[in-house]
Amino acid sequence: MPLDIIVGSQWGDEGKGRFVDLLARNAQIVARFNGGDNAGHTVTVGSQIFKLHLVPSGIIHPNTLNIMGNGMVIHPGSLLDEMKMLKDGGVEINPKRLFISYAAHIITPAHRALDKAMEAVRGKRLIGTTGRGIGPAYTDKASRQGLRMVDLLDPEALMEKLDDHVSQANQTLERCQAAVLNVKEVQEQYWEYSRILAPYIADTSRMAAEVLVRGEAILAEGAQGSLLDVDMGTYPFVTSSTCTSAGVMNGLGIGARAPRRVIGVTKAFQTRVGSGPFPTEQSDEIALALRGTGSNPWDEYGTTTGRARRVGWLDAVLLRYAARINGLTELAITKLDILQGLDELNICTAYQKDGQTYTDLPFGLSNLADFTPVYTTLPGWKPKDVTAARTWDDLPAEAQQYIQAVAQHGGVPVRWISVGAERDQVVTLEV
Ligand code: IMP
Repeated sequence: MPLDIIVGSQWGDEGKGRFVDLLARNAQIVARFNGGDNAGHTVTVGSQIFKLHLVPSGIIHPNTLNIMGNGMVIHPGSLLDEMKMLKDGGVEINPKRLFISYAAHIITPAHRALDKAMEAVRGKRLIGTTGRGIGPAYTDKASRQGLRMVDLLDPEALMEKLDDHVSQANQTLERCQAAVLNVKEVQEQYWEYSRILAPYIADTSRMAAEVLVRGEAILAEGAQGSLLDVDMGTYPFVTSSTCTSAGVMNGLGIGARAPRRVIGVTKAFQTRVGSGPFPTEQSDEIALALRGTGSNPWDEYGTTTGRARRVGWLDAVLLRYAARINGLTELAITKLDILQGLDELNICTAYQKDGQTYTDLPFGLSNLADFTPVYTTLPGWKPKDVTAARTWDDLPAEAQQYIQAVAQHGGVPVRWISVGAERDQVVTLEV
């Protein structure tokens, strides 16, 4: 009953989509278990680039079934836009290959308005959310007043629930001096969504359990990254869902079971969008080299919001932490090619505070901002190029040394290294 899990081991945007794409061909089901359209998973197939926010990346493979699990929060309008974009790109979308959990929560325009209004009043303590309504939707879920996908199956009752929901949100919006919403307009919109999405709503928990009993494989696709996890991340600068492997069982409703593999995806350097501590953050020319100018699709600008990402050196202390909280069995390193313009490369292998060195943080990530990184410096491989490498031996010695250092300091073996944006630009190692 193989369950494989792919999670981000940083602050999201690690390039998980391409490894889901790589592994999806051997999975019966690809399933998203957390988050919503705050995620942005880019999959490149030849000249086509698919930017997915909600639909699992397995959709690109014609024989893969795709589940949007109960742990997700779904904005129906975004989902329909994405389904259209996929259809226009030649991908088959129908209720025989895309299944939405009846228990997944619905995001409404009220959640989005509240997300933005609450950010506006946070002032200095701004989280820098994606503005997609994620926090307010999970808040409603936890306070037992959320709307769920199953509600779309009874549009009459849904209209009443929407009336309550939007009216209540309007009171808060008024207090925040933000524009209020027109209840009727929201109702009309969601009536229409009900009609279109109803055939896709299913008992995905049972479906997943049956697939596992038959011995077929499920690939769970994490969104965001471990350091944004609501419990274990850099709280309060986190998202509102469980982004770690532990979220899979709950977010798909499959019960506790040992996964076959837990794959952590990490960039060869570190990035972050939004506020919060980032000890290895760089500025100036190093930042430009890591971020790019925005002229390439893979440059460090958000898939969802277009925001320039903060960039810095790889943080192996945080990688070790992510390995521990996820039970990672292997690593996939992305964007090794981006490092090739640099003379020297730093990896943070420990932290310092008040003259003391730490290889593990005393209270997790709770006071990360108080620590100063200690770097190990390695040579770059300039002007050698890694983009044509497909085996370990194809990599320059300095690149091999860098990968070995990541595995050693991260405490997890490396199985894949991506060396470019194309589907085949991957070095696969035996673990
Ligand atoms: P929210 O998930 O929109 O509430 O945003 C909370 C924090 O998580 C913000 O710092 C966002 O920038 C960050 N975040 C949310 N989703 C992603 C993602 O997919 N990649 C990177 N950062 C994300």
